[in-house]
Amino acid sequence: MKKAIIILLCVTVAGRMLTGCSSNPTSTEAPAEAIEDAADAANTANVADTADAANTDAGGLVTVGFSQVGAESDWRVANTASMKEALSEENGYKLIIDDAQQEQKKQIKAVRDFISREVDVIVIAPVKETGWETVLGEARDAGIPVIIVDRMINVSDDTLYTCWVGSDFENEGVEAARWLVNYMEEQGKGDDKHNIVVLRGTIGSSAEIGRTKGFSDTIAAYGNYEIVGRQTGDFTQAKGREVMESFLEEFDNIDVVISQNDNMAFGAIDALKAAGKVPGSEVVIVSFDAVKAAFKSMIAGDMNVSVECNPLHGPRVAELVDKIMNGEEVEKIQYVEESVYAADTAKEDLLGRQY
Ligand code: AHR
Repeated sequence: MKKAIIILLCVTVAGRMLTGCSSNPTSTEAPAEAIEDAADAANTANVADTADAANTDAGGLVTVGFSQVGAESDWRVANTASMKEALSEENGYKLIIDDAQQEQKKQIKAVRDFISREVDVIVIAPVKETGWETVLGEARDAGIPVIIVDRMINVSDDTLYTCWVGSDFENEGVEAARWLVNYMEEQGKGDDKHNIVVLRGTIGSSAEIGRTKGFSDTIAAYGNYEIVGRQTGDFTQAKGREVMESFLEEFDNIDVVISQNDNMAFGAIDALKAAGKVPGSEVVIVSFDAVKAAFKSMIAGDMNVSVECNPLHGPRVAELVDKIMNGEEVEKIQYVEESVYAADTAKEDLLGRQY
């Protein structure tokens, strides 16, 4: 399998050199053990538990090593579940998952582990954008193709990975700012002065970088909107609450919270309520992800909007793995489809929501 993949990879790279790589846009805190539980349920393996389960013993299955960020949010748990469902043994894959607990050094260790096991394909959901050159060079030297999912990486040589699938985070930030400006106009507050605090995600992650840039650049065109505070809550509910508490101590005139994910927003909402504020009206809550619990929060009147970040990458990744294994050309960059969900339609939108 290994020799075949090296040959197929060469064909893919050669094909890409001839045709060029296309860029075609197609389209409340989770428990840390969630990944482990889901792994058992989906008949997958965790690196720590399967030290002897090498690729050579995969029984004809395509072995995929997946370095996941962690289990910091509802979004992340849904993302892991999607990968497990698509890359199941029934579907022909042996999925080895490593939970990095939001630490890049654990991801690098996991990737080295996947290389030494000679997996067929490595999939990485990177904690942050920088710091990948060395380990990806090692994967390339070993002839193992790498698919990046969710967040992006920032490398000078883009042949270090085969392809990427994920969200347009900067556009999500733009959508959040546009929604806020429209909403304030509809409320007859378009010309009022607005004081915004931003709960940032993990610093250095594409989700934080893109959402920060998209929102800040767009809102800067409106002189009556001021970002008075910015702090990271690391995408978790507990830290979202902590950071919101510190904002409330520092500022007494906050009327907008931009939370870079739903779980931090849930924490911020708790902090606001504890301080006697009314989230959803007195303080407008703008969030990202649009997980099921966010729709419930909007229906309850606590959250105003959530800009979707689609976590259902599993089927797309499985398709990419198949193509790579067959030596087919794959698109270098693929965006997933996303929408904006506001409170006024949350009840209907929640029906049939997958995550
Ligand atoms: O990279 C996607 C982001 O990571 C999601 O918005 C957040 O919930 C997760 O932790």
